[in-house]
Amino acid sequence: MDKIKKIKGFSDVFSPRSDSYTLLEAKARDIFFRYGFEELRVPILEKTELFARSIGTETDIVQKEMFTFPDRKGRSLTLRPEATAGVARAYIENKIYSSRDISKLYTIGPMFRYERPQKGRQRQFQQINAEILGSTAPETDAELLLMLNSFLRDAGFQKLSLELNSLGCPQCRPDFLKAVSDFLSRQDEEALCPDCRRRSRSNPLRVYDCKINTCREQIKKGPVLTEYLCGDCRDHFQTVKRLLGISGVQYRINPNLVRGLDYYQRTTFEVLSEDIGAQSAVAGGGRYDGLLKDLGGPDLPGIGFACGMERLLLILGEAPNPQSDFFIAPLSQKAKEIGLLLACQLRAKGLRGDVAFEGKSLKSQLRQANKQQAAACLILGEEELTRSTVLLKDLSSGEQSEIRQEDLLTALPLSRQ
Ligand code: HAM
Repeated sequence: MDKIKKIKGFSDVFSPRSDSYTLLEAKARDIFFRYGFEELRVPILEKTELFARSIGTETDIVQKEMFTFPDRKGRSLTLRPEATAGVARAYIENKIYSSRDISKLYTIGPMFRYERPQKGRQRQFQQINAEILGSTAPETDAELLLMLNSFLRDAGFQKLSLELNSLGCPQCRPDFLKAVSDFLSRQDEEALCPDCRRRSRSNPLRVYDCKINTCREQIKKGPVLTEYLCGDCRDHFQTVKRLLGISGVQYRINPNLVRGLDYYQRTTFEVLSEDIGAQSAVAGGGRYDGLLKDLGGPDLPGIGFACGMERLLLILGEAPNPQSDFFIAPLSQKAKEIGLLLACQLRAKGLRGDVAFEGKSLKSQLRQANKQQAAACLILGEEELTRSTVLLKDLSSGEQSEIRQEDLLTALPLSRQ
């Protein structure tokens, strides 16, 4: 019979890689908690319209990358390609804004994009996502970036760089878009890809986000967004930069950073790593002050970011193999029973370990204990059973001693971790 294989771009994550995910998530939860964030768990499946309306119909994500399919009643559903749209929907639907002025919400989980898989790019990937809803203050932008910075530093990342831009607001962006349209209409149409030819009329900002080299070269010579900012947007951006400066967070202004999603206004940013090849963005985000209103909610602002866990783990490498405190080697049927009970007692005290129930030889059980990197092997032979003891073999030193079962907890060596 043919074996069933996983879908392209999806992966099975075993330990120790799965432990790395857990450790990174724990770091995020710890830092986010200190910043007053609460966890929100939103569905993985949403109505397609939610993503089309929030991310934008002209974006690569909506046009080419969504896993979209009809449900049994023919309604179009999509596996979430990102979390912000779902968080915004949940916030509006549950009227969270009516009970608090500011909401700080984080969500961790899988996202799905139908992209060409390569190093650091998968069709199912994991994001750590944080959003602050309800604040227009530039201090909020700075605080969110400080939180992202401390999370990344705490998790052990060092060689990362922050790129920053401002995308303006509905007051100043039209002037910029007109300038881009004019600029593009003066260029040789052939130099743009078919998508950008269309976008130059429908959504010119998207040309800045095109990954095709000829389009990138062309738009590099185009108008610079930050030169078109209105007074309010300029002040906002100035304050964010100043606050990052006094907080010691280094950044680089990238005026071409428009991000691949349409909902952004004002502050946008990406965190890049030189160490992981072409897919260098490990985190990205920005302000989306019009999104809640566009989704039928109140006219309230928002800002957030998402980190791609697979890309972060490419830099961080794998967690060390989890180690055990004990491995119980029973040498008879009765010893297996005693071993089962002893293991339960030790685990109840917080220790980690296994019992071998397969009835193998002592030699093979010791080999298994070493393979698991247990700190100690607890041998239960006939003599130990009659004396209510165990033979404790310290697997680091090789020393053996007979210990009364009730003294085990104090006699066990610490695990090798
Ligand atoms: P994004 O830039 O599309 O933003 O994704 C954020 C991060 O997810 C990227 O920087 C990258 O690390 C990771 N990522 C994206 N696609 C893939 C993929 N195919 N494979 C592996 N990792 C990937 C957003 O998703 C926004 N929702 C962020 C945000 C939150 N903006 C405001 N709030």
